[in-house]
Amino acid sequence: MDAENDAVTGPTGPLGFGDITDRIRSKRVADKVITAAEAAELIAPGMTVGMSGFTGAGYPKAVPAALARRITEARQSGEPFTVSVWTGASTAPELDGLLAAADGIDLRMPYQSDPVSRAKINAGGMEYLDLHLSHVAQMVWEGWFGHLDIALVEVAGVTEDGRLIPSSSVGNNKTWLDVAEHVILEVNCWQPIEMEGMHDIYYGTALPPNRSPIEILHPADRIGVPYLQCAPEKIVAVVPTHAPDRNAALKPPDSDSARIAGHVLEFLAHEVRRGRLPRTLLPLQSGVGNIANAVLTGLEQGSFRPLSAYTEVIQDGMLQLLRSGTLEVASATAFSLSEESMQELRADIADYRKRIILRPQEISNHPEVIRRLGCLAMNGMIEADIYGNVNSTHVMGSMIQNGIGGSGDFARNAYVSMFLSPSVVKGGAISCIVPMVSHVDHTEHDVHVVVTEQGLADLRGLAPRRRAQQIIDRCTHPDYRDAIQDYFDRAVATAPGKHTPHLLAESLSWHTRYLSQGTMRPG
Ligand code: COA
Repeated sequence: MDAENDAVTGPTGPLGFGDITDRIRSKRVADKVITAAEAAELIAPGMTVGMSGFTGAGYPKAVPAALARRITEARQSGEPFTVSVWTGASTAPELDGLLAAADGIDLRMPYQSDPVSRAKINAGGMEYLDLHLSHVAQMVWEGWFGHLDIALVEVAGVTEDGRLIPSSSVGNNKTWLDVAEHVILEVNCWQPIEMEGMHDIYYGTALPPNRSPIEILHPADRIGVPYLQCAPEKIVAVVPTHAPDRNAALKPPDSDSARIAGHVLEFLAHEVRRGRLPRTLLPLQSGVGNIANAVLTGLEQGSFRPLSAYTEVIQDGMLQLLRSGTLEVASATAFSLSEESMQELRADIADYRKRIILRPQEISNHPEVIRRLGCLAMNGMIEADIYGNVNSTHVMGSMIQNGIGGSGDFARNAYVSMFLSPSVVKGGAISCIVPMVSHVDHTEHDVHVVVTEQGLADLRGLAPRRRAQQIIDRCTHPDYRDAIQDYFDRAVATAPGKHTPHLLAESLSWHTRYLSQGTMRPG
């Protein structure tokens, strides 16, 4: 095995993991076991590789590192070597970070959050396609991104008859396995094998005009099978690993996150009192990060229950809600758990397996299902403008932060679409409420509620100028309120149109002053 990589050598046994036949029960597949370095040799310059991985879970742990070493060596010998990398969403430093540092990625899609990749993309050295996550499978089938040479997919195991037991994320794995010419599997013995049965892989999607309804009427509904399928002749290599998912613990909620969570909970209680939401609310969708986690923690103390979730990612806060019984069931495409929460999952996995369903991201993020279930969407943002347009992706209009991810899938189709953010960042140097967003991801038509630690603006049913006043009054930081009010007043007085009044030149110069002050730099 590859002596340089502990993920590959593992602790004990001839293959490093005790008896690997427990995990690879098919002899035909077990016969394909090779090292990560040997598997990386199968990836040639210019190829496109569809990798597993979604928010730091279920990504291949060994072959990307071996590939990055190969790329570096090739470059040292003067041979150009890049590949295109497709995934479910973000992965981890061992994948995105290493390949980007080796200058090994030509094109990346559909989402990333890695700092090394971000710097390369913003410097113009890496192409990046930032897509709605529900669109990816369809666009791959349509052929927009060309041929997929290799699917490199982590699984938890392989059954006797060759079906694949998915690991801690599903993402686009079904699509990669279906369309790729060749398949490399990483069988990760760190992943709990007891996850077998937790997943719901739906094989009924088709392109128009052959589509039929996605018959999920409740987040708990299962409409597929627990295994991924792969034609055995496509499998060219199997690499055993024993390595954890990325599992950084979240910080305890800071005071701003706690205040934002407080406003959301008060809003939900108000909606219940007004009869617009049931006491059990509606299926929750929550982005990841500290603010989202603070809202989930707050729900634990609230009186809404039993709850359900139809979301992308099961993070620590959601697992806590499942443990306490506040959350009855959670449907997602991936876990994103700290080490402590992973231990909790392992300890009681037989129970969690009944209440957690991991699906392909084209189903976890399917607009039809989100609209039918009436999800309550809570996502982070970079900035919102006074009319309720939201920028989720770009700092100062041109520097990508992460990507739109699933926020658009949920925001447009949710029953209530909420965007949450501190009112200021960078120690107060930048206001997240601005006259006009420097980049639009979610238009005013898709944004129902904006929340900062200052308060909550409910924009539903309000015409543009009323929305603006709500956002200024409720969400703006006091240090910026006068300036934004002044902008709005002058826009109302002097703009040629009074429907959505703007001072066009001034609205964008708001952003450039941060650049000229040196508050923001590309990177
Ligand atoms: N101007 C400049 N920088 C800003 C900013 C603004 N208006 N708002 C945030 N930032 C910076 C932060 O200061 C931070 O910079 P740092 O890393 O140098 O400290 C960085 O952006 C990330 O902000 P953070 O506070 O860590 O945000 P977060 O974890 O709450 O994430 C988003 C906010 C918008 C980046 C994140 O929600 C995201 O990527 N959203 C898009 C995808 C999505 O919604 N996925 C879930 C859908 S299911």
